[in-house]
Amino acid sequence: MSTEDEQAKAVSEDEISEIPETGSPEIGENEQDGSGAMIILFFILGFVASLIVGWIIFPKLLYSQKQQPVAFNHAMHNELVDEGCESCHFFREDGSYSGVPKLAQCIDCHEEVQGESEAEEYFVTEYVQKEREVPWLIYAKQPPCVFFSHVAHVKKGDMDCVTCHGNIGESESLRVYEENRISGYSRDIWGSNIGGFKKNSWDRMKMDDCAECHRKENVNQGSVQTEKGACFVCHR
Ligand code: HEC
Ligand code: HEC
Ligand code: HEC
Ligand code: HEC
Ligand code: HEC
Repeated sequence: MSTEDEQAKAVSEDEISEIPETGSPEIGENEQDGSGAMIILFFILGFVASLIVGWIIFPKLLYSQKQQPVAFNHAMHNELVDEGCESCHFFREDGSYSGVPKLAQCIDCHEEVQGESEAEEYFVTEYVQKEREVPWLIYAKQPPCVFFSHVAHVKKGDMDCVTCHGNIGESESLRVYEENRISGYSRDIWGSNIGGFKKNSWDRMKMDDCAECHRKENVNQGSVQTEKGACFVCHR
C-alpha cells in the first residue's frame, strides 16, 4: 500500500467518524433550540426598542415644549372675581367670543403690584406697565381653515366648558404647551396619547371628534350626505 492510499483511507475514516456527530439527532435539536431562542430574543429586543422609539422618543421629538409667558392661577382668581368665568371670558354684543383675556380684564386689580408673588411682579412690570398684551398660548387652537363658534356651543347648545377644555378653568397652574413640529398645531388636537386613544371628551379635538358629536347631536349636516356632515359647517 502506498502512503497516499493510507492517507486517503485515514481521511475517509475521519469523514465517516464525523458523520454520526453532525448527523446526530440530539445535537441537531439542541442547535435548533438555540437559534429559535435567539430569534425570539432578537424579536423581543426589537419590539421593545420600537415601543420606546414609538411611544417615548418619537413624541418627544415630534412635539416642542413651550412655557406660558405668565404663571396664571385660575383657581385663585375664580374666588376673587365677581362674575366667574365671564369676568374674563365673555361674549361681545355681536356674539363673538372674547377668548383669552386682554390686559383690560386685569388692569383694575393689577395696576400696581399687590402681593409678594414673583409671578405677579413679573406680570405687572413686564406686561401691565409696558402696556404689552400677554402672548398666551392657546391649547385648543385649531388651524385657520376651521370655523368654530363659541356662541353656537355655549349659548345655543348649552354646553359646559369642561366638555371640550377639561379642567383648565379650575387649575392652579398652566401646563406646558406642546406644539407639533411638523404641523405647528397644538398637541391638544391630536391629544396627549400618541396612539390617539381618548377617555374623556376633551382629550382630543380632531375633525372626527367634532363630527362624532355633531352626528350624535344631529347638528346641521347639510344636504350633502357625507360621514362628517357637510364640509361647509366647519370650513368656510
Ligand atoms: C381673572 C381672569 C380669568 C378668569 C376669572 C377665568 N379665566 Fe380662564 N383664562 C384666563 C387667562 C389669563 C387665560 C390664558 C392662559 C391660558 O391659556 O391658559 C385663560 C385661559 C382659559 C382657557 C384655556 C383656553 C386654551 O385653549 O388655551 C380655558 C378653557 C379657560 N380659561 C376657562 C375658564 C373657565 C371655565 C373659567 C371659570 C371657571 C375661567 N377660565 C375663569 C383668565 C381667566
Ligand atoms: C379681582 C381682581 C383681580 C383680577 C381681575 C385679576 N387679578 Fe391677578 N391677582 C389678584 C390678586 C389679589 C392676586 C394675589 C396677589 C398676592 O397676594 O400675591 C393676583 C395674583 C396674580 C398673579 C400671581 C399668581 C401667583 O400664583 O402668585 C398673576 C400672574 C396674575 N394675578 C395675573 C392676572 C391676569 C393675567 C389677570 C387678567 C387676565 C388678572 N390677574 C386679573 C387679583 C386680580
Ligand atoms: C364644543 C367645544 C367647546 C366648548 C363647549 C367650549 N369651547 Fe372654548 N374652544 C373650543 C375650541 C375648538 C377652541 C379653539 C377655537 C379656534 O382656534 O378657532 C376654543 C378656544 C377657547 C379659548 C381661546 C380663544 C382664543 O383664541 O383666544 C378660550 C379662552 C376658551 N375656548 C374658553 C372657553 C370657555 C370659558 C368655555 C365655557 C364657557 C368654552 N371655551 C367652551 C371648544 C370649546
Ligand atoms: C360635544 C359635542 C360637540 C363637539 C365636540 C363639537 N360640537 Fe359643534 N356643535 C355642537 C352642537 C350641539 C351644535 C348645535 C348648537 C345649536 O345650534 O343648538 C354645534 C354647532 C356647531 C356649529 C354651528 C353649526 C350651524 O350651522 O349652526 C359649528 C360651526 C360647529 N359646531 C363647529 C364645531 C367644530 C369645528 C368642532 C370641533 C373643533 C365642534 N363643533 C365640536 C356640538 C359639538
Ligand atoms: C364638524 C366639523 C367638521 C366638518 C363637518 C368637516 N371638518 Fe375638516 N376639519 C375639522 C377640524 C376641526 C380640522 C382640524 C383638525 C384636524 O386636522 O383633524 C379639520 C381639518 C381638515 C383638513 C386638514 C386641513 C389641515 O390643514 O390639516 C381637511 C383637508 C379637511 N378638514 C377636509 C374636510 C372635508 C373635505 C370635509 C367634508 C367632507 C370636512 N373637512 C368636514 C372639522 C370639520
